[in-house]
Amino acid sequence: MTRDEAKTRIHRVMPPVVSEDWPNVPVDRAEGPWLESGDRRIADMMAGFAVVNAGHNHPGVIAAAREQMDRVVHAPAGVMVAEPQLALAEALARILPGDLDTVWFGNSGAEAIDAALKLARYSTGRFRFVSFYGSFHGRTLGATAVTGSRAGHRRGYGPLLPGVSFVPYPNCFRCPWGRRARDCSLECLDAVSEHFARVVPPEEVAAIIIEPVQGEGGFIPVPTKFLDGLRRMCDEHGILLIFDEIQTGFGRTGRMFAADTLGVKPDLICLAKAMASGFPISALAGPRSIMGGWAVGAHGTTFGGNAISAAAGLATLEVLEAEELPARAAALGARVLEKVGSWPERFARVGDVRGLGLMIGIEYVEPETGAPDGEAARIVLEGALERGFLFVPAGAEGQVVRLTPPLNVPEDLLWEAVDVLEDLTSGI
Ligand SMILES: Cc1ncc(COP(=O)(O)O)c(C=O)c1O
Repeated sequence: MTRDEAKTRIHRVMPPVVSEDWPNVPVDRAEGPWLESGDRRIADMMAGFAVVNAGHNHPGVIAAAREQMDRVVHAPAGVMVAEPQLALAEALARILPGDLDTVWFGNSGAEAIDAALKLARYSTGRFRFVSFYGSFHGRTLGATAVTGSRAGHRRGYGPLLPGVSFVPYPNCFRCPWGRRARDCSLECLDAVSEHFARVVPPEEVAAIIIEPVQGEGGFIPVPTKFLDGLRRMCDEHGILLIFDEIQTGFGRTGRMFAADTLGVKPDLICLAKAMASGFPISALAGPRSIMGGWAVGAHGTTFGGNAISAAAGLATLEVLEAEELPARAAALGARVLEKVGSWPERFARVGDVRGLGLMIGIEYVEPETGAPDGEAARIVLEGALERGFLFVPAGAEGQVVRLTPPLNVPEDLLWEAVDVLEDLTSGI
């Protein structure tokens, strides 16, 4: 199938929300970092949206899924118990930080977010949520309600969940207070306190939800000091701190979870994407003190924790550990950041490069004003695809090129990808 054929056919049977997305490249086969269609091969530098951290169709993951398929496909949780689902919960309980030892399975990231929001209300008896400008938590109505990265995600869907309010995210490149690292006094944390003092009584807040690295919002790591402060504030007011680690989880930021990388423990954690290398599954995990109060019948899902996905999840964890992929992400990511770190000085259209592990963003700007330049990013993305490298944008204007290759991407391919970006960037 050519890209043109694919376009014609998807326009006929799918809505523009899919058919007019970019770039809709046909894929017949995928292996490691490679996508193949006919005789065309493309290097996937977005890892299917940070999903195939162990690469596409890792043989160990595929073998585990196949084997499970021959045993049992569907064993709905609560009514039946399939070994891989139980074993995956046990494995997660073992590797998640601190006391996050109790796991509920869903199917998608947004479903895990909705579960977290419901449980936060259920267990605290409070109804409010505080989220951040720039955040992205998914597309269900609940997840959309706490999403603040683009008005387009919310337009036409209101009224959304009541009780949600937003505060500025600590975006150090576009600091709302115009600060730089040297004169920062965490005004962003004061803004949360002020929000509590003026707008939202903290004793009514069930949870604060945050991505440790904003993904869709532009690949912006949260400063540890801010996260420490948020943790303290939550403890002071009995508010649950929810980490959305749907994109940052499973080695992406250099440790198994960003909570480990940043050294701050949430009360609830949402996981999905890379958990099973592309087999659909998600999880909400928390301590027994919270999860243990979730009574039978209060929540559920038919397919959550599907046996094949769970088997693939267990195999994914084994691969991440055996190939030491989180550590590889940390080491390689640091080297990439070192190399691209000079780009803001060298290229007028690069405003900032930043990231954690192999979750790296390059932000394009208009040289005169510093405003986000989605057009420049678009030129780079189109050019890269023509040269056989798939990257996707992030940020409100699509001004950030995200680099999230599989964590076991061959080094020479990664450097080739960086060279392609450098070459294209130097030409705009
Ligand atoms: C941080 C974050 N949260 C939630 C989601 C939603 O996950 P899903 O698309 O599986 O519903 C995403 C998806 O991109 C995400 O990046």
